[in-house]
Amino acid sequence: MALADGIRAAPIAFPQTSPPGYHYLPEEPTYNPAQHLSLKKPSRIYRLSDLGYDKTLVANCPTDVAITDPIRLLSESGVAALREVSLNLRQYKQRCDRIPNMVRGAAYRSRFIRDLCLCPIVTEFLSEIVGTPLAPHSMPLHLGHLNFAPENISEAVDRWHIDTISLDYVLMVSEPSALEGGKFQYFNGTQAEAAVILNHAQDLPPERVVSPTFPDAGYAIFQQGSMVVHRATRLLRQAERITLVNGYVPLDTSFPDQSRFADMKVVDEHSVLLPEWARHKAWLSRNKLDTLIEELPFTSDRAAICAALREAIADVEAAISDIEDTSESKMLYYGR
Ligand SMILES: [Fe+2]
Repeated sequence: MALADGIRAAPIAFPQTSPPGYHYLPEEPTYNPAQHLSLKKPSRIYRLSDLGYDKTLVANCPTDVAITDPIRLLSESGVAALREVSLNLRQYKQRCDRIPNMVRGAAYRSRFIRDLCLCPIVTEFLSEIVGTPLAPHSMPLHLGHLNFAPENISEAVDRWHIDTISLDYVLMVSEPSALEGGKFQYFNGTQAEAAVILNHAQDLPPERVVSPTFPDAGYAIFQQGSMVVHRATRLLRQAERITLVNGYVPLDTSFPDQSRFADMKVVDEHSVLLPEWARHKAWLSRNKLDTLIEELPFTSDRAAICAALREAIADVEAAISDIEDTSESKMLYYGR
């Protein structure tokens, strides 16, 4: 059921309390958008059709934007503050099969990162770029994900994958010109094409791999990460390489939810993840129920009414089944 014009979901509020064991840094800069932001629109935006997606697949997405050229988000002092905070959070590093050195839950550990990631000025700026209203991701675990250089540089910083979430930016926190390797790259093609090639243990054709040039620290690419196959290559020389990935949700919640529980199940602490998943899915269903309440026509078509009710609560049903399922899951990514 599509949302009627003008009906938009309200963003979900950030939790009032932190998960047990999560504490904010005792000392850190205070986020100040007037001082820390320097917003500059992208010179170019690539559409899903540019990557070869057909109309049917694009119609299921909240925006037809695939990925932007690097856009400036942070000022010099914004970069300095975020770098300082990120280095302080490195003590919480963890790894998974796909990413060897990362920090999750940064929005529960740094007020600076929380406030940057929730900043309404940035959200509005990005909403204009994608052409649809966004909100910071309804699951705080997807706010301010940090990637660091692997300790063993023979490992990729992040292997070929599509994101666990639909929309995000990848922000360069370290000085990109100081890096040898460690490039952010994306595939100029569809996920299905990439899967065929990579699952046959072949490299993606180099002429179809794009390596955007980040002019400086503080620049980010914005992407529909669930549709753009991307990675960060291995470093050729050990160096500081920090990126911050911030997730967003569309406020038009009528599109299929691209957030994947299975990936998070193998990475995140369940005491944080399971309630976040429940809240996120409850938020989606609440919006769909609100739409149903607004729009359900007078009819004696029992099947249509029941189908509308089922569709509205499908996210909650899915969450219950995910949370009840105690089996192990596997993260979706490609080998390289
Ligand atoms: Fe990613």
